[in-house]
Amino acid sequence: MSSQSPVEAPEHVLRLLSQLHKVSLEQEATITKTGKVTYSGVIDELKESQPDRAPKSEFDTIMLDKFIALDEDKCHFVYQLINATGATNVVEAGTSFGVSTIYLALAVAKTKAATGKSGTVIATEKELQKAETARKYWKQCGEVVEREIDLRVGDLLETLKVDLPEVDLLLLDIWSVLALPTLKTVLPKLRYGAVVLADNTISGAKGYADLLAFLRAPENGFQNTTLPYTNGFEMSVYLPRTK
Ligand SMILES: C[S@@+](CC[C@H](N)C(=O)[O-])C[C@H]1O[C@@H](n2cnc3c(N)ncnc32)[C@H](O)[C@@H]1O
Repeated sequence: MSSQSPVEAPEHVLRLLSQLHKVSLEQEATITKTGKVTYSGVIDELKESQPDRAPKSEFDTIMLDKFIALDEDKCHFVYQLINATGATNVVEAGTSFGVSTIYLALAVAKTKAATGKSGTVIATEKELQKAETARKYWKQCGEVVEREIDLRVGDLLETLKVDLPEVDLLLLDIWSVLALPTLKTVLPKLRYGAVVLADNTISGAKGYADLLAFLRAPENGFQNTTLPYTNGFEMSVYLPRTK
C-alpha cells in the first residue's frame, strides 16, 4: 500500500503521477523473472538467456521504452526531505521519462517559495527519445514543474562536469555501475550536510558494492543509513571533517 501523499500539486499533476507510476510498475513486472529490476540482476539474466549477445547493449535496448520510475513512496520521502532540509539545488542522476523529477521540481519550487532561495533541479538522461518524452510530461504538468528543471541530455559523467551549483541533494537513480562514478563527479560540489540517496541498495547490493564501500569508508565523510523501503533506499549525509 502506498503511503499518504504529502505532495501539494494541481489535481491534473497528481493524476498524471499516479498513471505514470502504474505503467512503470506494469512494465517492470514484465522485464525479469523476479519482477524486480536491478542493473546487475537484468545483466545476469541476459547473460544466461542470450549468451551470444552483448548484455550491456541489449540492456540499453530493453530500457529504451521503460520508465523504471522511483517507487511512489520513495518519491514522497524525497519530496519531504527536500522541504525539511531546505534543499533547492538538486541533481538527479537518471531521469528516464521524468517521473521522480516531477516530485523534485514540485518540492524545490515549494522550498524556493518559502525561503526566497534560488535553485534548480538538474536532471540527466542519455537517451534523446527518453528526454523528449520526459519534457512532454513536464509540459503537461505546466510551468510549476517545467521552469524548475535543467535537463542535461547526454552521458551524465560528461554533462555533470560543468556548471554545477553547490548541491544540496543528489538522487542516484541510475544503473548501479554508474553510481560511484556519478557520486565522484558531483562530490566536489556537495555542500556540507548534503544528502545522497541511492535506490535499491538492498536488492542491488551486489551491483552497488563499490558505491557502498566508498560511502561507508570513514575517511570519505559520509554518515549512512539504509532506509527500509522495498529493495532498500540508501540515505547518506555528507559531513566531511575538512569542508
Ligand atoms: C532508473 S531510470 C531513472 C528513473 C527516474 N529517476 C524516474 O523515477 O522516473 C535510469 C535512467 O538513467 C539513464 N541513464 C543510463 N546511463 C546514463 C548515463 N550515462 N547518463 C545519463 N543517463 C543515463 C537511463 O537511460 C535510464 O532512463
